[in-house]
Amino acid sequence: MAVRVGVLGATGAVGQRLIQLLDPHPEFEIAALTASDASAGKTYRQAAKWRVDSPIPADVADTTVTATNPSEVPDDIDLLFSSLPSSVGAEVEPGFCEDGYVVSSNSSNGRMDDDIPLVIPEVNAEHLDLLEVQRDERGWDGAMVKNPNCSTITFVPTLAALTDFGLEKVHVSTLQAVSGAGYDGVSSMEIIDNAIPYIGGEEDKLETESRKLLGDFDGAELSHNGMDVAASCNRIPTIDGHLENVWVETEEELTPEAAAEAMREYPSLDLRSSPDPLIHVFEEPDRPQPRMDRTLGDGMAIAAGGLQESPFGLQYNCLAHNTIRGAAGASVLNGELLLENGYI
Ligand SMILES: NC(=O)c1ccc[n+]([C@@H]2O[C@H](COP(=O)([O-])OP(=O)(O)OC[C@H]3O[C@@H](n4cnc5c(N)ncnc54)[C@H](OP(=O)(O)O)[C@@H]3O)[C@@H](O)[C@H]2O)c1
Repeated sequence: MAVRVGVLGATGAVGQRLIQLLDPHPEFEIAALTASDASAGKTYRQAAKWRVDSPIPADVADTTVTATNPSEVPDDIDLLFSSLPSSVGAEVEPGFCEDGYVVSSNSSNGRMDDDIPLVIPEVNAEHLDLLEVQRDERGWDGAMVKNPNCSTITFVPTLAALTDFGLEKVHVSTLQAVSGAGYDGVSSMEIIDNAIPYIGGEEDKLETESRKLLGDFDGAELSHNGMDVAASCNRIPTIDGHLENVWVETEEELTPEAAAEAMREYPSLDLRSSPDPLIHVFEEPDRPQPRMDRTLGDGMAIAAGGLQESPFGLQYNCLAHNTIRGAAGASVLNGELLLENGYI
């Protein structure tokens, strides 16, 4: 029987992607939709300006949106997917966890807290056990798991494939799509015929979240990976798909051939939203490209290419769909992992 789930912030850009992915999902059934007070009481069709590239699901369209408050969400819902602005998430998500709901959240609040697992299932599924520590410390009946920032998700799986070589220094420069800022995030006058070499707060997220994701959990505490990470983040006029240029220095010698093999062989998981292969490595020097490669693995694969030696170690490019693998799909995959591990 499908698990009844709710979506917090269901009317937004990521919320709409969540609806698109959850509606046909055999393990989950959408049973609650929340948004701001301005949307509460309207049908989803009225509240959400639907902009996703498939029709709005008919049963969802007629569902009434409620305010984002635990008292508005039915008790028989166990799992909530959250795509709230982080300031709102910080305010309301803990209350849902206290009330017994398990929350799989996209919002950046709490991602770096010691007792909140930040998870990419194919990279660090074992960090989910941090939920036992979280429940002990916070006294929650529910639980909170986060997925990382969309740019972090793009390059960390490729690094995970290279950990056996000893990661020492990582430089990453991003070319990020406008959808990452939300529909109203970057005006067309700013971005057309332009590139913006600054995305507030983003560089710090790549540097800190990557070290948490690749850290070790000993059953009680999580230690972060000691590699040095420097990030430079740029907004460019693509719609979807973050492209990133990466340089990695390792303890052991790492040839482009060995790196390509490690990435190709890096395992996916036996979860519905985990693609196989997880990392698609291109031979063509001009790939991956956002428009051509962002939908690999239904938008859940990581694409890599351009592997070569450089004075700064291995150099390569990688790409992922920022609102699917980088946001909504990441939360759904974490939901599947929570289900498989008996947290729901
Ligand atoms: N876009 C991406 O690629 C991406 C990637 C990774 C992570 N994220 C994160 O995902 C979250 C959502 O991003 P988004 O681009 O989907 O934002 P968005 O389009 O602005 O949507 C925000 C959602 O939150 C609701 N909301 C706003 N204020 C609220 C309040 N005070 N109380 C309750 N609900 C409220 C909105 O409802 P109304 O429609 O009623 O205003 C809407 O449903 C953010 O934390 C963002 O950082 C986004």
